[in-house]
Amino acid sequence: MKSIEAIVAIDANGAIGRQGDLLCHLPADMKHFKEVTMGHSIVMGRKTFESFPRRPLPGRQNIVITRNRQWQYPGVTVAHSVEDAISAAETDDVFVIGGAQIYEQTLPLVDVLHLTLIHARWASADAFFPALDMNEWQEVDREHHGSDHRNAYEFDFITLKRRRS
Ligand SMILES: NC(=O)c1ccc[n+]([C@@H]2O[C@H](COP(=O)([O-])OP(=O)(O)OC[C@H]3O[C@@H](n4cnc5c(N)ncnc54)[C@H](OP(=O)(O)O)[C@@H]3O)[C@@H](O)[C@H]2O)c1
Repeated sequence: MKSIEAIVAIDANGAIGRQGDLLCHLPADMKHFKEVTMGHSIVMGRKTFESFPRRPLPGRQNIVITRNRQWQYPGVTVAHSVEDAISAAETDDVFVIGGAQIYEQTLPLVDVLHLTLIHARWASADAFFPALDMNEWQEVDREHHGSDHRNAYEFDFITLKRRRS
């Protein structure tokens, strides 16, 4: 049985991006993302994949979801639906890494959510994480980080697990 996890950096309004890119560059969050996802299958929308400066992301099976039957990219597993993407995953732990469309469609399948909560707000944001019903989630870990010379904003690494009744 595969474990489906999602990893996302959100601002205080639940925003995740603007103009096809991330809201800000936080090297500590990039390092955290790499540590959490390394060695696993990662599932993403075609737009998120194309936003990476260097792609595919090394050391992980990159699974890209697109409706375009012609689309392909060296080193990438292509899927045409969320279900196909999960089935194509070669590791037991599968990480959904965005963007907004893909988070929206996969959230009901996600068991563990790795949230980076950035203590800031971007009025210009145009991509958002779906609203979370906190009755469905239990916070199991939270680590606060202050800002420093490389990371301009304070942030928390938060782990949420889906409550099972
Ligand atoms: N803060 C974070 O942690 C984080 C993480 C990831 C991304 N982001 C941000 O999120 C934004 C991108 O999100 P987005 O919603 O615009 O794009 P996206 O979810 O990355 O990709 C959307 C694309 O996925 C494909 N797709 C979606 N649903 C599908 C389905 N059911 N079946 C087949 N293909 C499907 C389509 O590709 P085709 O058009 O090719 O058919 C669609 O255009 C950017 O700003 C990015 O920087 C933020």
